[in-house]
Amino acid sequence: MTPPMLEVRGLTRRFGGLAALSEVSVRVPAGRTLGVIGPNGSGKSTLINVVTGHLKPTSGTVLINGRDLTGARPWTVAKAGVGRTFQVVKPFRGMSVRENVMVAATYGAHGRTAADAAGLATDVLARVGLAGQAGRAPAELSVADARRLELARALALEPRLLFLDEVLAGLRPAEIDPALDLIRALAAEGVTIVVVEHVVRAIVEVSDEVLVLHEGKVLTSGPPDRVMADPRVIEAYLGHRYARRGGA
Ligand SMILES: Nc1ncnc2c1ncn2[C@@H]1O[C@H](COP(=O)(O)OP(=O)(O)OP(=O)(O)O)[C@@H](O)[C@H]1O
Ligand SMILES: [Mg+2]
Repeated sequence: MTPPMLEVRGLTRRFGGLAALSEVSVRVPAGRTLGVIGPNGSGKSTLINVVTGHLKPTSGTVLINGRDLTGARPWTVAKAGVGRTFQVVKPFRGMSVRENVMVAATYGAHGRTAADAAGLATDVLARVGLAGQAGRAPAELSVADARRLELARALALEPRLLFLDEVLAGLRPAEIDPALDLIRALAAEGVTIVVVEHVVRAIVEVSDEVLVLHEGKVLTSGPPDRVMADPRVIEAYLGHRYARRGGA
């Protein structure tokens, strides 16, 4: 039997007294897309950070394609075929857009040579719509293009498992559909995807299954339509957003 591409069991991460992530368990079969939603501060980015080695778990287990990578370093996780974007973009500032993508290509599961990395960077930059910006410095990019660079760097790792943390943030409405098309195309190629987004329509359109986090815990999970119709989700998620809009 093939193991799920991602299996997380009882994952917990505390920051002092705060349980940013509490006893979270989830399975994502190979080739499927999991959408993760939840109010601000519900633990979405922490889940990605703990699974990809950027934060150590306090307790729990992370299995990637059946391999125990609990607490592994980020580069070990990347070498295992896992790509990710950061919610706060993190390019190498002293390198061009193209060089940033080439570095990722050489660090991926396949460890591309410089010549291969150049070709891969050209393909990936075209795919995310950054071909025209390849020679620029990351600091010169718009907010939306900086997010595209994050995505390009993650794709240059040639991941089998890809975590996307709010890659649609900062995109104009007309730019969202092409981004969703790209996510669907990656899924069609067999990439397993975990997508964190506040744009509920986007989550419903690309996800096979949706996980809802609330105060670090799993509130519910299941097919997108059923989850989005769940009164607890509407209360926890939309209620919070309405409260934010009215309050802060
Ligand atoms: N490095 C850290 N040190 C201390 N607290 C942290 C750290 N990272 C996250 N937290 C806290 O953990 C909780 C979960 O944060 P996280 O970033 O995972 O939320 P999120 O669901 O991604 O929110 P958002 O939608 O705003 O991105 C929050 O209360 C946050 O303040
Ligand atoms: Mg976050």
